Amino acid sequence: MFKGNLNIDLDFFKMKSPLLIGVDISSSSIKMVELSMVDKGNQAYRIERYVIESLPVDTMLDGGIVNLEAVSECLQRGWKRMGTRRRNVALALPATDVITKKIFVAADQREDDLALQVENEASQYIPFSLDEVDLDFQVIHKTLDSSEEVEVLIAASRKEKVEDRVAAALSADLKTIVMDVESYAAQAAFELTLSQLPESGKNQVIALVDIGATVMKINVLHNGESVYTRDQPFGGNQLTQEIHNQFNLSLEESEVAKRSGNLPDNYKADVLQPFCETLAIEVMRAIQFFYTSTQYTEVNYIFIAGGCAVIPGLTEIIASRTQVSTLIVNPFSSMELSSRIIPKQLNLDAPALLIACGLALRSFDPS
Ligand SMILES: Nc1ncnc2c1ncn2[C@@H]1O[C@H](COP(=O)(O)OP(=O)(O)O)[C@@H](O)[C@H]1O
Ligand SMILES: [Mg+2]
Repeated sequence: MFKGNLNIDLDFFKMKSPLLIGVDISSSSIKMVELSMVDKGNQAYRIERYVIESLPVDTMLDGGIVNLEAVSECLQRGWKRMGTRRRNVALALPATDVITKKIFVAADQREDDLALQVENEASQYIPFSLDEVDLDFQVIHKTLDSSEEVEVLIAASRKEKVEDRVAAALSADLKTIVMDVESYAAQAAFELTLSQLPESGKNQVIALVDIGATVMKINVLHNGESVYTRDQPFGGNQLTQEIHNQFNLSLEESEVAKRSGNLPDNYKADVLQPFCETLAIEVMRAIQFFYTSTQYTEVNYIFIAGGCAVIPGLTEIIASRTQVSTLIVNPFSSMELSSRIIPKQLNLDAPALLIACGLALRSFDPS
């Protein structure tokens, strides 16, 4: 595999990187994860440190940065609290900001000829002028009848989307080495956990559902390939809002109370239960959309990630609604923990750290 180089500082695909911090700039917080490799042969990792640093409201919108200064300050606070020395980071763009396309091109071309052809082809699929985009490509695999053609994956994003994130990092003295795609990073981290399934989930249809503060993102995987994705505007903020409406608490207080569970007796029945039911219906709808828009007729497992995953009883409600085994994602389940990590806290935070973990893994890309 080789790496195409057009006018890029972008790197959606694998290449050798120095040791990095994985940094997920999300709607409600910035998550940072630092991993080390303990056994190269067995791909065994240790989580060294992580932080989840809250962002002020309205800092982000639809995955994009609205308030660059707030992001920069949050990055600085998070980096300090983490107590790391690494300053190289891997960032990611939301999948909705990245256009990907598979094309076939003649094999046996020189690398710059290939780059030129990719640029030509890309201009047909990208609704912007090429000087407004960052482009990256990778040869995936040779077609079966070989020699004639190769399949190439092109990824492109508007320059300003990339530049905003890089600039925010830079103003916090962090150097962006890798720019990935959030859904790719999530999938990479999720795959570490597949060994818990019989035959490591081979031939199983697995719905990875990330339920964050504002959006629920579904990515259906089959033998390591993403076969369907969908975003639905539903997330934990709805529950916070409902707590705010019902119990005369500010939004900030509601957020704290939600996590501690320190709320009046009727909270569970009147607020939490209805929220979980609505959430389960959203998951079910997403799965029905998956069936109607693909040839698939079955989902074997649902894995829940994102901050909402740890809401008590949620997986049971989703399982009973959908009739599909539902589990919480913990990308660190087979990792060593550094002595700085508090296991109980990590268990609560792990599902929300999926993307940051996948980004941290980019430190260990094969060259
Ligand atoms: N322990 C918890 N109990 C209930 N909800 C939680 C808990 N921890 C986080 N959340 C909720 O998860 C959401 C944040 O999830 P996260 O995946 O970090 O979102 P985003 O990626 O959109 O920033 C918030 O709505 C937050 O209130
Ligand atoms: Mg998120």
